[in-house]
Amino acid sequence: MKYQRIKGTFDILPPESAKWVYLEQIVRGVMERFNYKEIRTPIFEMTELFARGIGEGTDIVSKEMFSFTDMGDRNLTLRPEATASVVRAFTEESLGKKAPLHKLYYIGPMFRQEKPQKGRQRQFHQFGAEAIGSNDPRVDAEIIAISVMILRECGIAADDMVVALNSVATPEIRAKHREKLLEFVEPMRSEFPAVDQEKIDRNPLRLFDSKESRTAELMANAPLLNQFYDDDVKRDFATVQEVLSAMEIPFELDPRLVRGLDYYTRTAYEVRSGLLGAQDALCGGGRYDLLVEELGGSPTPAVGFAAGMERIMLAAEKAGLPGFAERPLDAFLVAVSDEERAAAVKLAHQLRSKGLAVDLDYLDRSMKAQMKEASRQSARFAVLMFEDELKAGMVTVKDLGSGEQVGVALDTVAERIG
Ligand code: HAM
Repeated sequence: MKYQRIKGTFDILPPESAKWVYLEQIVRGVMERFNYKEIRTPIFEMTELFARGIGEGTDIVSKEMFSFTDMGDRNLTLRPEATASVVRAFTEESLGKKAPLHKLYYIGPMFRQEKPQKGRQRQFHQFGAEAIGSNDPRVDAEIIAISVMILRECGIAADDMVVALNSVATPEIRAKHREKLLEFVEPMRSEFPAVDQEKIDRNPLRLFDSKESRTAELMANAPLLNQFYDDDVKRDFATVQEVLSAMEIPFELDPRLVRGLDYYTRTAYEVRSGLLGAQDALCGGGRYDLLVEELGGSPTPAVGFAAGMERIMLAAEKAGLPGFAERPLDAFLVAVSDEERAAAVKLAHQLRSKGLAVDLDYLDRSMKAQMKEASRQSARFAVLMFEDELKAGMVTVKDLGSGEQVGVALDTVAERIG
């Protein structure tokens, strides 16, 4: 029996894995600069948390969750996203009582049973941030700024991304809009493609992000949510735009932007990239002022985003992956006889203790084969351990870039190659 990975999942192998480490370093670095602290929540939660949090009528909850029953007959689900889990932790740990504003970030795998295609997996990875405790629209701009800064530091040019921005207002405003939208759509019901007809009853807003061209045609003159904004929503949305402009972050207003999760209020956004195919959203997020209360906490405003790491990797690859390289070995130690190998093991340990990346031969290879391996590994130096030189406390250090070769005292190798 030959085992295979599950459809929609991937192994991340070296040297590819080094790119992931690099991306994670960028994420951590930027999050630190914005003063977000890492939170790690479990990979699985009660199914009910996601059903309530993300919304029963969403595609994620209605058809994409990996759910199972545990031995205690509890219905559990592998997390399809992390916002609901972060809010659960915030409430369960009473974080609101410890500080008025929590700025949190995460990196990790998520699971959605979607049809796999380029940029869409069943196990994928997200990083994201959640700022819980403030209703200041400047935090919305901060969240967008974090995501854009990370994408820029991944080498994705400003021209290769579009920040699509909308305000999905409040449930009251959405209810008024929905009424008018249904009045508009109802007489044409039978003209919509079958896949979209069910959206009319479930969530007619989703008609705006249909992939069907016929639906787009029918919706061309549909009433838009922004025609129903009140002064409060307008003021907040204007502030988000002013702050983004002050930070020189370009954005496009997209009054048809709807998100695939039900918890959004006010600001909603996505960053899309022409470097990707059909799955062009690099990240998405927005404000979710009602979710903490919905999940049993005290009313607490919040805003956040999450980004798809596989998609960022695809876009960064197209952009040439500047900086996405494996750390090269500082030195490969070349030793053949038992005595040389004993000295090499000792020297390797000393150099590694001093922070250098060092490797040596464990396959009993000839000196020539070991030199070849040093080049294959792109080591900066080869350290040749010759028995007769070792007796005098010396080794030969060869710079594999310039080819220059010098005799060096054993106890000064670290300084030489460091
Ligand atoms: P989302 O839009 O569902 O939002 O996902 C965010 C990002 O995750 C997407 O833009 C995409 O890059 C990536 N993504 C989603 N599904 C897949 C998939 N099947 N394969 C590969 N990548 C995928 C959320 O998850 C919200 N929790 C964001 C948020 C945080 N809102 C407020 N706070």
